Amino acid sequence: MNVANLPRPKLRANPQEIGALTARLRELNYREESVAELLGLRDLSELDAAELPRYVWEARRESTALGQLTLLFLLGDGLSRQEATALLGREAISALMVSDVLFRRDGRLFSRLVLYPCLGSFIFTDYWVTSGQVEGQVYELGTDSYVLARMTPRGESVQKALDLCTGSGVHAVSSALAGADSTAVDINPRALQYTEFNAAVNGVSVNVVEGDLYTALEPGRYDLITANPPYVPSPDKEVLIHRSAGETGEEVPERLLAGLPQRLSEGGLFSMVLEYPVLSSESYLNRLERWLGETRGWGIAVISFGEMNIGAYIKLHIGPSEDYQSKFEAYLESYHRQGIESVDFANVFVVRTRLDQPNWKVKLSSLWPKTDIRAYVSDWLKDQLMYRNPDFEYDLTAKPDLNQVYRTFWRDRDRTQGILERANDRTFAPHNLTADEAEWLEHARGEKTLSELLASWKESGRLESTFWSALRGLGKQGAISWKKS
Ligand SMILES: C[S@@+](CC[C@H](N)C(=O)[O-])C[C@H]1O[C@@H](n2cnc3c(N)ncnc32)[C@H](O)[C@@H]1O
Repeated sequence: MNVANLPRPKLRANPQEIGALTARLRELNYREESVAELLGLRDLSELDAAELPRYVWEARRESTALGQLTLLFLLGDGLSRQEATALLGREAISALMVSDVLFRRDGRLFSRLVLYPCLGSFIFTDYWVTSGQVEGQVYELGTDSYVLARMTPRGESVQKALDLCTGSGVHAVSSALAGADSTAVDINPRALQYTEFNAAVNGVSVNVVEGDLYTALEPGRYDLITANPPYVPSPDKEVLIHRSAGETGEEVPERLLAGLPQRLSEGGLFSMVLEYPVLSSESYLNRLERWLGETRGWGIAVISFGEMNIGAYIKLHIGPSEDYQSKFEAYLESYHRQGIESVDFANVFVVRTRLDQPNWKVKLSSLWPKTDIRAYVSDWLKDQLMYRNPDFEYDLTAKPDLNQVYRTFWRDRDRTQGILERANDRTFAPHNLTADEAEWLEHARGEKTLSELLASWKESGRLESTFWSALRGLGKQGAISWKKS
């Protein structure tokens, strides 16, 4: 197949017909969790082409409406006209036919595109089974796409949002649904067709710009910039555009960071998901700061989901091929030349603070999120801004308590350390506390004001400076909530 034979959806349906489609998808519970459960997957993003027959078997065996939707929209299977009409209704079928999504073959209806549910939106992409095989294909919703969607908060302060490397437009649609004026950029014109199509399907509009990262944009700043860029380090010049960012894997991420001082508003957030090479020569936090080119007024947070050794990583990314061995060796040599020790999967956040203070940088480990953790990330980022600001003035009359995101606070018998465990699905690892932090938390139970706590801290012979540093240490972990008196 070549690019000319790939589908070209065009939204020719009216909003009422489209509304009928999305309403029906919601009614039939077409959500990522329910489809993953139907297919026996931990997460919908973990679809594996080698297991396609099993998925089809599971979906057919269920013989429910959700099973039929999954067969039609994710597994490339057909339905009879009667089945499809009973499933989606006449209006939705006609909307999909006139838009060139559905087509008829041997008396059955098939879909040219796949449809992913994502946090309440519905996103069409090219077929995931052939992903990476044809130049110009629009990227499916991979684990990286879902991670970025599930981790990127969009508060009311986000008026203008930019999604670079937009692909299907999933993140640009999400920003538009949150009420932002949303712009999407991609170098691939087919991706922008899909972005416009997906925006219309979800009842919003997105401004699309064809171009290389920031270069085709009018001057201006954004409150939120998202990106799921190409990042696979590759010596292979033929690797498709949605994957490769040169031999280092860092060409695109570097340019994304370098553009932030001109493009991110004060108080704005940059959120990027990627796999980055772990180098012996320089830490990733330092590299990000160097690319940013600023030493004051910025915060950088890397949430790391775990490293993969380069053998496993190469195997995953080159896939089966006739010249597997020589290809593998070429990658291996290239990775050694670049000093790549392993590859880490991560989400990077960069915040532009309103302060002229030295940058802060932090790296944290977590599992990649299988559920929506945007509210949690938003609170965590706010805590970083507050507790990493040395000039922050605390309200002495407020009463600190343990934040409810933590389920358990453990302390050892000798009082030399403590541990905090989260109340959620164990996405984040337990956090170790110093002796001072554990002592601080023991007394902060939402009953005493900050000034009372400080007074008893000093009465017990402790230094005031340790009181404040313990509070900041806990605050940076998101461990404190405040009650106003
Ligand atoms: C991994 S896909 C991400 C798609 C989508 N944002 C998502 O999260 O599912 C990367 C996208 O970046 C686009 N791209 C690659 N290089 C680019 C560049 N220099 N400027 C703009 N877009 C680029 C590709 O065409 C592709 O659509």
